[in-house]
Amino acid sequence: MKQRGQPTDRKFEARNRRMIGRIAKDRRLARASIDWINTSAPFEYAYHFKWLGIPIIQLPPDIIALQEIIWKTKPDLIVETGVARGGSMILYASLLELIGGNGRVGGVDIDIRAPNRRAIETHKLAKRITLIEGSSTDERTARKVHALARGRKRVLVILDSNHTHEHVARELELYSPLVKKGGYLLVFDTVIERMPAGYFANRPWDHGNNPMTAVRQFLRRNGRFVEDPEMAKLLISAAPGGYLLCVSDTAKAKRNPRKRRPARQRGG
Ligand SMILES: C[S@@+](CC[C@H](N)C(=O)[O-])C[C@H]1O[C@@H](n2cnc3c(N)ncnc32)[C@H](O)[C@@H]1O
Repeated sequence: MKQRGQPTDRKFEARNRRMIGRIAKDRRLARASIDWINTSAPFEYAYHFKWLGIPIIQLPPDIIALQEIIWKTKPDLIVETGVARGGSMILYASLLELIGGNGRVGGVDIDIRAPNRRAIETHKLAKRITLIEGSSTDERTARKVHALARGRKRVLVILDSNHTHEHVARELELYSPLVKKGGYLLVFDTVIERMPAGYFANRPWDHGNNPMTAVRQFLRRNGRFVEDPEMAKLLISAAPGGYLLCVSDTAKAKRNPRKRRPARQRGG
């Protein structure tokens, strides 16, 4: 029985969409969120969570968003670059197990340490996971990932390894073709662009050289993906602007808007 005051699902969803639109435009909320992220970062906040016993290096709202996307799109393969301790592998495998079918997880990392490999390979959900050791931008690694994707129709790609512009730009070239219309390509740590310059003193990435700058360049050149506006709701996220929805299977080279046409082609 419908309870008084409880909106129908459609009304509930429509109201949520309107609210999320307001969230996306609210500067005060955006400032408070990035302040919160910057204030909690020195405490290594994102390192303190586990999924089914294994550490996952993500902010909780991003973990929820990953769950929403996996449940909604029901991928038959999830590829992630950047495995670390393996919590994200177990998160994806646990959701694929609940969904049923033969969905698999492929994890790429340049350095899979022995205890981490052991924890993943002895986990109850290990049967769904393939680990590939190597740099994600190495041609041999890419060939192994593409072999894993052969015959798979709904591939979700998540980039969370080396966060320099050059590295992410190359990962986008290598792995975005795996994602088809209706699927997602997620790029983590775009938030670095909103953090103070020089924050990562011992890392090669910084303001102006990070996943966000690579995503902007990718979206200018590749017409197959758009930013998912719904994810503005996350606020406390390592991937603002990094949740990319595939809207077309055909690659349309986009005209570089900054490049001016030669004078004789210009009309008027
Ligand atoms: C932020 S952690 C990944 C966190 C993980 N996705 C999770 O949710 O728990 C980044 C990982 O990327 C790996 N990495 C760094 N450079 C890489 C590269 N060139 N290719 C593949 N993995 C790389 C590091 O070894 C590290 O384990």
